[in-house]
Amino acid sequence: MSIIEKAAKKLGGTTGQGATPQPARTEDAPRKEESLIEAALARQKELSRHQAQSAAMPDVGTMSEVRTAPESRMEPVPQAEEPAESTSQYQSINLARMHRMGMITPDAEKSQIAEEFRIIKRPLIANAFGQGATRVKNGNRIMVTSSLPGEGKSFCAINLALSMAMEMDRTVLLVDADVARPRVPEYLGIHSDLGLLDVLRDKKLRLSDVMIRTDIAKLTILPAGRTYKRATELLASSAMTDLVEDIGSRYHDRIIIFDSPPLLATSESSVLATHMGQIVMVVEAEKTSEEAVREALSHIQTCEVVSMLLNKATPSPGADYYYGYYGSYGK
Ligand SMILES: Nc1ncnc2c1ncn2[C@@H]1O[C@H](COP(=O)(O)OP(=O)(O)OP(=O)(O)O)[C@@H](O)[C@H]1O
Ligand SMILES: [Mg+2]
Repeated sequence: MSIIEKAAKKLGGTTGQGATPQPARTEDAPRKEESLIEAALARQKELSRHQAQSAAMPDVGTMSEVRTAPESRMEPVPQAEEPAESTSQYQSINLARMHRMGMITPDAEKSQIAEEFRIIKRPLIANAFGQGATRVKNGNRIMVTSSLPGEGKSFCAINLALSMAMEMDRTVLLVDADVARPRVPEYLGIHSDLGLLDVLRDKKLRLSDVMIRTDIAKLTILPAGRTYKRATELLASSAMTDLVEDIGSRYHDRIIIFDSPPLLATSESSVLATHMGQIVMVVEAEKTSEEAVREALSHIQTCEVVSMLLNKATPSPGADYYYGYYGSYGK
């Protein structure tokens, strides 16, 4: 039996009842925090000015090696549209570090991992932008989640975002929605302060104030923002619904990837799931139990299209893949 068949057999169907989202409730940011936010904004603007200047120079830190190698030079790709939410923040992604971590980088399009994610992204893109009945409602909003911590959600979400951003006609917004333990900045080697939670809490703050453009022209990051103990309620608020509607519908070619917390550890992902058109459920091979997967799936029944991604699979001898299998439920 192949690993694909084993995984399909192991994962089977879904059972159980969906989780009930927390009641929507928002809260105005306390006054004493306003000055903190302004200070943070000023800091971010200063940082992005500095980063933009640095990026214009040929040799900067570890980036120079990647950028100056002829075969690995990244051509700037023009944005498909001039974004109305155009942000002043710009940061360079540490591609050399990402490469060392085994992740996709634009200069290594033929790598094994790039090939794997090329296969993984195809059905997701078809669901998001397909014609007629194949098109999934809100299919361009894709949450990457898993049952348990450490299964590879952030790794897969970032690789998916990078792979999609390398498409000619797609723009990608990567949202770090793991608001309790945000890891996207660390993986990309960027700095972040304000983000999603701050925008939800402070009506004066615009998305464009906190989004980060990167040197991968089609990839923009929305960081998680500062931690907040009532984050789940914020994610369930009408402000979040409005925000997701806004970012989901503003550009016809944009995909939004949400990196999220594990379903069985917090209630945030099941709340987020209510906003999604598609969910990618990462399952760690040979580790996550069928019971855990089934229970996790029961928390995201509000989303009709859930795809399974078996991660960290060990290749069987002679197999031409190492990443695992990809299948889909729903529809
Ligand atoms: N396919 C893979 N190949 C190699 N390493 C991987 C793979 N997927 C994940 N990892 C590694 O496994 C570790 C956990 O991955 P990651 O941070 O993506 O998990 P996570 O599910 O987002 O965790 P958390 O629940 O804490 O957010 C990291 O060190 C990551 O680099
Ligand atoms: Mg993570």
